[in-house]
Amino acid sequence: MIKYVSKMLPALLVAGVAVGTLAFADGHGPGMKGKTRPMTTEQLMEAIVKPHMTALKKGLIDSKPATKKDWKHLSLSAALLNESSHIMMADDRCPDKIWEDACIKDLRAGTAAALKGIKEKNIEATLAGFKKAGASCKACHSEHKPKD
Ligand code: HEC
Repeated sequence: MIKYVSKMLPALLVAGVAVGTLAFADGHGPGMKGKTRPMTTEQLMEAIVKPHMTALKKGLIDSKPATKKDWKHLSLSAALLNESSHIMMADDRCPDKIWEDACIKDLRAGTAAALKGIKEKNIEATLAGFKKAGASCKACHSEHKPKD
């Protein structure tokens, strides 16, 4: 029996990958939407993740935070990105460890570090957190964003 299963394993793996690829191709595979909530991953990316990542880049790299209002805006964007990492892990949206690590170790930890930097008005610490959060995009997309 064990011998049989180990012989079948490669075939099962190939079948699993094929089904996974098909599911991704039509945009409804794991990760593209949660199980019960209507918002798609694409909508989350377009409405929250991308605009707030861009806002952080504008406020930290293209210019430097100077006023109380500048820091407040950075805080808002970092907080929403942090929250997005929770949305992306909820409702059975997370398909695997790559997704989980990108969400928790990069996006969530990075934005938490940025928020700490923002609280202390420490530009270097905020930048370091921002960069860590930014690493999540590539880490997850290289595996999970369909190539069109
Ligand atoms: C845990 C996984 C994950 C992380 C982290 C992630 N994304 Fe995505 N992103 C996706 C997936 C999956 C799609 C494809 C959604 C689809 O096409 O249905 C996507 C699509 C996108 C899109 C295209 C949306 C569209 O209109 O088609 C943008 C822009 C984007 N992500 C920006 C970002 C940025 C910026 C970051 C980093 C701050 C990021 N994403 C982090 C999973 C992730």
